[in-house]
Amino acid sequence: MTTVIAVPPASRDEYHSAVDTALQACAAYYGDGTSPLDDAAYDLLAGWIRDYEREHPGHVREDSPTGKVGGGAAPTGEVTHVVPMLSLDNVFSAEELTKWGVSLERRLGAPVRGGYVAEPKLDGAAIAARYVDGRLTRLVTRGDGTHGEDISHAIGSVVGLPARLASPATFEVRGEVLLTRAQFDQANAIRQAHGAKVFSNPRNGTAGTLRAKDRPYVIETTFYAYGVVGLAGDTHEEMMAAVAAAGVQTTSATPVGLHVCATLEEVQLRVGQIAALRAGLPFGIDGVVIKANAVTEQEKAGLATRHPHWATAYKLPAMERRTKLLAVEWNVGRTGVIAPRAELEPVEVDGSIVRYATLHNPRFIRDSGLMIGDTVSVFKAGDIIPRVEAPVVDLRTGEETPIELPGACPKCGGDIDTSGERWECAGGAGGGCGLLAALRYAVGRDQLDIDGLGTTYIEALADSGAVADVGDLFTLSREQLVDATRSEKRADTVLAQIEAARAKPLNRVFCALGVVRTGRTLSREIARYFGTMDAIRAADADTLAKVPKLPAANAPKIAAHIAALGPVVEKLVAAGVNMTEPPVPTMGDAGPLAGETVVVTGGMTGALAGKNRTEVSDLIIAAGGTTSGTVSRKTTILVAGEKAGSKLAKAKELEVRVLAEQEFAELLADWLP
Ligand code: IVH
Repeated sequence: MTTVIAVPPASRDEYHSAVDTALQACAAYYGDGTSPLDDAAYDLLAGWIRDYEREHPGHVREDSPTGKVGGGAAPTGEVTHVVPMLSLDNVFSAEELTKWGVSLERRLGAPVRGGYVAEPKLDGAAIAARYVDGRLTRLVTRGDGTHGEDISHAIGSVVGLPARLASPATFEVRGEVLLTRAQFDQANAIRQAHGAKVFSNPRNGTAGTLRAKDRPYVIETTFYAYGVVGLAGDTHEEMMAAVAAAGVQTTSATPVGLHVCATLEEVQLRVGQIAALRAGLPFGIDGVVIKANAVTEQEKAGLATRHPHWATAYKLPAMERRTKLLAVEWNVGRTGVIAPRAELEPVEVDGSIVRYATLHNPRFIRDSGLMIGDTVSVFKAGDIIPRVEAPVVDLRTGEETPIELPGACPKCGGDIDTSGERWECAGGAGGGCGLLAALRYAVGRDQLDIDGLGTTYIEALADSGAVADVGDLFTLSREQLVDATRSEKRADTVLAQIEAARAKPLNRVFCALGVVRTGRTLSREIARYFGTMDAIRAADADTLAKVPKLPAANAPKIAAHIAALGPVVEKLVAAGVNMTEPPVPTMGDAGPLAGETVVVTGGMTGALAGKNRTEVSDLIIAAGGTTSGTVSRKTTILVAGEKAGSKLAKAKELEVRVLAEQEFAELLADWLP
């Protein structure tokens, strides 16, 4: 096993050992993708090696990974790159970015006049795609920067790289191939179905997919161009726009986009904005690439051996780190789901310490072969719960022990329903094991909104037997509440909140039932679709599957659970709880959107910022319009938010009236709170 270096090298021996570790990590990274170092650890080590070499130029080893594409370990091939495919230097902070700017201006002998481009640093595999007379003729990996492998067999499976361009142009686009999260999941499902090992993360998956020939299945990947050879233009922005116009997907089409900033201060702001967007992106980025926009300035700044002086990568903190799995806990959730949670050796991921992470479900544990003591990759995306991605099998010491799957519900000792991917306490939701969690959920702000009933009081009510399901909340006596809350005043507050809860719209009452595979959005859709609880209860799985956004595969489970909750619903009805969904109020023909069919696309960042799609739809309906998710000939207005993509293009093609968010908000001014 490779030793992980923990301190900067201080002697020549330590320098050698650091270089050896880095070389082994690079070889493993490009080999089977199982480097013992995560990206953050590698960057740190490479930085130490660079610092040592700067101070001791006489000690620099010829095989040192510094300044080489892929640390010198990237697999090369037979195809010569017409123009070398360069790497990028890194900066890690605002100060380092400023220093880079100073050195760039020193090289130019003048301030940067053409501005800077900021675009995402996509975390996949770099390739070159050659178009001759408008036809895609060859795909080549970056390799060592001068020679790459021919991977033309992948033509046809890469979204964003059309086989034919809009015009008979000849050029070579360069960019990153990646697996989006959805493509990664799809790839692993396909591989599982074929008995192949699942990919441990999207980047390994991309490299593996591109290189593999003659597979019995096809895995779809995605390409975004960030450079072009053979096209003339004055700026990077302009050339990339020409590439996009020819039909190739560029970084402009990512939700991050390609922004031109006049100054490095603006770039710094943009880096902050991109870091905030990162969690919600459909694929991984590991930084922001900053480039001088004007071609004349790029030419003047020139190139180092392996990277241009006119561009740099501002690395963002790693979202994925390696750490050890110490133990596995089993928790019972609000719907009785028994979920495994990993207890980890604490590790810093994206600025916070992670101690626990989800292990998804027992099937993940079984399929990944995970063991206690394993080194694991932990991934965090914004405020989403960190999750364990995969064990690093190559780092096993032999001391690892198997994870025991529970044979009985860890809470009540009862049977477990193991028929689905997620295991559930056979006692089910709304009662038994899930009771406390189910009640806590039911009284939540977005459901019944009885916030006077905190966890302690709920526990007291459940312990005393006063509440055995959500229905019992509505028949609680003042006495029972005084007992549980030990205060007359608190009891009265709760009673008033329960009274108000009786009149909540059906979507909230339904949501409070905690039906499996449903949450707020789906509860709203279901309540809106059926209008009454009676109609919901009368629906079979096929009818439920017609509800917008309800995955058909989940319909049978949802239907079964609704049926099982019959007695609870009866209690609610008997207690006078509202069982109907009020129609969304509408101005009908008097509204400003009367007769309009509106599609909303892109992010709302202005007057409508913070509104989700359902809320924007409600506004449209209130203003007399109807909404749709897709642009068609029936569409009369497209509201284009930030990063509007294909829907905007389609709307333009169909000559649909396009409104910016602000214009749309002005139309709806009277309906906006
Ligand atoms: S420009 C001459 N732009 O990062 C400049 N590279 O660490 C060449 N990468 O080899 C690269 N996103 O594989 C550029 N928007 C972007 C990028 C990007 C990802 C990758 C690329 C490159 C590596 C350097």
